[in-house]
Amino acid sequence: MPALLDPITLRDLDCPNRVFMAPLTRQRAKAPGDIPGELQAEHYAQRASFGLLISEATQISPEGKGYPNTPGIYSDEQVAGWKLVTDRVHAAGGRIYLQLWHVGRVSHVAHQPDGQPPVSCVAVKSKGYVSMRHPDGRRERVEASMPRALETHEMPRVVADYAHAAACAKAAGFDGVEVHAANSYLINQFLSGSLNTRTDAWGGVGFDAIENRMRLLLEVVDANTAVFGPSRVGVRLSPMGSANDLPAAPDDEECMRRVAEELGKRRLSYLHLFNHYWPKDRWNGPFTERLCREMKERFAGPIVLNGYSAEVAAAQADLDAGLGDCIAFGKLAISNPDLPERFETGAPLAPWDDTTFYGDDARGYNDYARA
Ligand SMILES: Cc1cc2nc3c(=O)[nH]c(=O)nc-3n(C[C@H](O)[C@H](O)[C@H](O)COP(=O)(O)O)c2cc1C
Repeated sequence: MPALLDPITLRDLDCPNRVFMAPLTRQRAKAPGDIPGELQAEHYAQRASFGLLISEATQISPEGKGYPNTPGIYSDEQVAGWKLVTDRVHAAGGRIYLQLWHVGRVSHVAHQPDGQPPVSCVAVKSKGYVSMRHPDGRRERVEASMPRALETHEMPRVVADYAHAAACAKAAGFDGVEVHAANSYLINQFLSGSLNTRTDAWGGVGFDAIENRMRLLLEVVDANTAVFGPSRVGVRLSPMGSANDLPAAPDDEECMRRVAEELGKRRLSYLHLFNHYWPKDRWNGPFTERLCREMKERFAGPIVLNGYSAEVAAAQADLDAGLGDCIAFGKLAISNPDLPERFETGAPLAPWDDTTFYGDDARGYNDYARA
């Protein structure tokens, strides 16, 4: 069984180890324009020794935004900002994918173009919260706004927005992209058998409608593979996750198996699985070890597991158990820019400070020391 520090080749991308950096929203992009720059370039370059860096979630369009100061990947200024990041990472010997994000209904009118309602598969409000930043810099958590349902004729436009974002990511020098289909954002909303009660080809309730509910994800993936080639497109899922108010449905497990199978046919870079129930109740939550193995078997390609920062020993144990091939670390990647080296030398791991997770400057971002 592979060790965390063993190299891995993801289809055609050589990674020097299996310690990946998980996507981490840090809300430090420049406003207006949601533009990354030197601050982010320094941050990711510091972490270039990770096997693969996956960027913070990045909105594919103005409509895809749900939080203040999250970066975008649709304007020339954003491409130029991200180019600083990829150049620095590559100069430091690293590899970096961009996580493509559309929040769907997990947004607020204040973040939407012209104060319009956010969009989703249906006009049902999320009980989740989003954050807001006032002109005086004060941050506040507010309820998500009432969304409107995307019209059938708008769906190709949403897919085209993803294609445009992928082209921008390519122009910005990313080695690949990760499609964010987890954590109850737009694609996860469409996958949901409890929320997506549409009656057109993009949704519906019950086992027979799984194909319809997968349509957005698969069209987005195909739009991305047209830009990057399948070997440079990963997908992140949070099987059985209920964040931001996605209640369970009887066909959730079957939906996840079908998704894994369809993605497997495309021979993608990797499938990234986030388990919300780790580490408190590892493998005993709704996302079971059995389902993980079933998805791995159907995908039949590299599996990235995530959710181990609070229980590092479990990471190697789960690789040993054959559940996955790589581990993406989130919170530990925040506080340990040299995490792979620390694993190698046995240096103690630095704790993260959750008061500086979001905004504003280099503090709690670029000032974590190397061992
Ligand atoms: C500050 C913070 C920001 C996050 N931002 C994202 C994100 O942009 N995209 C995403 O898919 N997950 C995001 N997550 C979830 C992490 O990628 C990861 O799934 C979670 O932290 C569990 O992994 P860990 O135990 O290694 O921290 C975020 C988590 C944290 C703590």
